[in-house]
Amino acid sequence: MPDLQSQIIPEKVPEHIAIIMDGNGRWAKQKGMPRVLGHRNGVKSVREVTEAAAQLGVKYLTLYAFSTENWSRPATEVTALMTLLVETIKGEIKDLNKNGIRLTAIGELTSLPAATYKTLIEGIEQTKNNSKITLVLALNYSSKWEITRAVRLLAEKVKSGHITLEDIDEKHVEQEMTTHGIPDPDLVIRTSGEARLSNFLLWQAAYSELYFTKVLWPDFRKNDLMEAIISYQQRERRFGMISEQVGKEGAG
Ligand code: FPP
Repeated sequence: MPDLQSQIIPEKVPEHIAIIMDGNGRWAKQKGMPRVLGHRNGVKSVREVTEAAAQLGVKYLTLYAFSTENWSRPATEVTALMTLLVETIKGEIKDLNKNGIRLTAIGELTSLPAATYKTLIEGIEQTKNNSKITLVLALNYSSKWEITRAVRLLAEKVKSGHITLEDIDEKHVEQEMTTHGIPDPDLVIRTSGEARLSNFLLWQAAYSELYFTKVLWPDFRKNDLMEAIISYQQRERRFGMISEQVGKEGAG
């Protein structure tokens, strides 16, 4: 097996990786198990990938854990996912602190079930002084919800006279995003062979490198993360410019 870690250029590790964790249901089905066991095994990947990302020098890891559309799933699955979130956050606080992981979240959090919301807020509070890596859980999140919310907040500011219509620029829009203060993702990974963004970080991923892998989320491990980072480092990020302007050194 090639030594993947030695192929990673430490200075070019993405500062922010965002992951669409997909394929839990199919993983379980392949094994003749109920879907919820796919999610339970997905938690193992969450744990390993978060620790690996921290160890590799990634500063922000955003995980798409529950979209606004996921409420349409069977009630039993939604309940199981919410319970799993509570159990996982409660069970991991000690390790999050041991590993310097700061927990935070984006999405319409106040509409989460009370127990999930409470545990999440406690988790955020109890890990707020950690600084090795920030783990951002996207929960009850979708980009269209977030962008609509930003438009409304800006309209209110114009209406109340805090800003004028002419003041509104990209910076103002960015300030109203739930990700304000978090750098845009350098790399967005989606597992399970699907190649779409599914309402995830559409504003923030404007110049992100996209990486799609067939690996199902419960099978995604440190090696898979390193393969994604190696692929990212071989790309040239031009941000709309031409090669000569950005240099030909690969990802930066
Ligand atoms: C997608 O697989 C996965 C989800 C919608 C939920 C992800 C949640 C976890 C991994 C567990 C909790 C997470 C944390 C952060 C503690 P899918 O169900 O859409 O799979 P399928 O497309 O194969 O049906």
